[in-house]
Amino acid sequence: MSSVRRLLIIGVLMLAVSTLCNLLPAHGQGGAREKPLMAEDVFKNVQVLKGIPVNQFMETMGFFSAALGYNCTNCHGDEVLGNWEKYAVDIPLKRTARGMIQVVNTINKDLFGGREAVTCYTCHRGSPSPKVVPSLLEQYSEPPADDPNEVEIHRRAPAAPAADAILNGYIQALGGDERLAALTSFVGKGSYEGFDTYHGKVPLEVYANATGQRTVIAYTQNGDSVTAYDGHNAWIVGPDKPVSVLQLVPGGDLDGIQLDSDLAFPGRLKQALTDWRTGFPTTIINDRSVQVVQAMAGGSRVKLFFDKETALLTRVVRYSKTVVGAVPIQIDYSDYREVAGVKMPFQWRLTWTDGQSTYKLDEVQPNVTIDPAKFARPLAPAAPVVAPAKVAR
Ligand code: HEC
Ligand code: HEC
Repeated sequence: MSSVRRLLIIGVLMLAVSTLCNLLPAHGQGGAREKPLMAEDVFKNVQVLKGIPVNQFMETMGFFSAALGYNCTNCHGDEVLGNWEKYAVDIPLKRTARGMIQVVNTINKDLFGGREAVTCYTCHRGSPSPKVVPSLLEQYSEPPADDPNEVEIHRRAPAAPAADAILNGYIQALGGDERLAALTSFVGKGSYEGFDTYHGKVPLEVYANATGQRTVIAYTQNGDSVTAYDGHNAWIVGPDKPVSVLQLVPGGDLDGIQLDSDLAFPGRLKQALTDWRTGFPTTIINDRSVQVVQAMAGGSRVKLFFDKETALLTRVVRYSKTVVGAVPIQIDYSDYREVAGVKMPFQWRLTWTDGQSTYKLDEVQPNVTIDPAKFARPLAPAAPVVAPAKVAR
């Protein structure tokens, strides 16, 4: 997808979604565990993708865009720019897409026993027009480099004991079990940049407890973007989110947040993840050899990539399930520095279907007492400030 097209997706998402924030009532604070909003509670014309949480619905839209190399306006028309209501209007391409969801469901049900064997990406491969004739050029050229992320979903990697060796090497490289155990919390400050800051730098704060809580706050131009995890529940608040406080439901998203919190204190990683597998070929990321380990984080498959030489973690890929296929989320870690004798990545970059974000720490204070309120359900933004969406600079 060209970067201009990507910017367009993001511009549309930001405007559309911030407008919706204004339409929705802010939710009451505290009380019993809230029921996450379903797509049909929020949107007006959902005919097929019913019964899924709003977050997953939006991820499904991201999946469509990535699978076809489209931006939101291709299926929804230019009228959606600045007008959230228009997403409900059916235009021909949107109808085609809706029909395709049913085609895919039928193929999987009738031919593959309901397994997710075929997705939009299987045929489309990033283009609106799937190819019909095999390409001789492709057949007789060098094959493109392997994508190190490719999860061989159907392949059973032998459950080899080597995972332990790789993980022990990692723990050693970080400073060893004892020092890791002595790090019980930290507060980091630095900068964040991403699609939601128009790729400008804004202040970032990270709060983490070894008991499992982790909160990340980016102070964007349009409002605070908060991801809070209290060890059981996670919430996202941000000017580009479809509802004022988005609660993550168990499954891909919550598993991912939990994994981020486990990775902040890697001493417990071995126990936190299950079904460790190795036996994947060594692969190359940024000209460096990495070893791949696969595990289950809750109910979600993740891949961890360890530098062969330094034994440090350089990449994690996890998958958010949507009803039409899994959306990959990749996090690349770098700039390891020592904090209280423990190596910690001071930079990480998140890549997903809707954009890339970079988190950088400048300073980290170890073993500080953190106000528990930092990890609680964030307050709904009082009045979302809506800046005009910048669509392709
Ligand atoms: C490949 C086509 C396609 C693309 C690309 C796409 N959508 Fe959709 N969108 C659909 C279809 C189909 C539906 C209706 C789903 C249903 O009926 O269950 C829909 C419904 C929606 C709705 C619900 C509207 C309502 O009120 O009923 C929203 C909001 C939405 N899309 C936002 C987006 C955003 C934002 C993007 C870009 C990130 C996007 N879509 C990209 C096909 C697409
Ligand atoms: C089995 C293969 C296959 C799968 C799976 C598939 N498509 Fe398609 N799709 C096609 C073909 C073939 C066309 C027709 C392309 C053409 O006319 O050149 C098409 C066309 C489309 C178009 C119209 C494109 C245009 O420019 O006219 C949309 C939108 C679309 N598909 C969306 C989807 C979505 C969304 C999914 C997943 C839910 C999906 N497709 C899954 C094969 C597939």
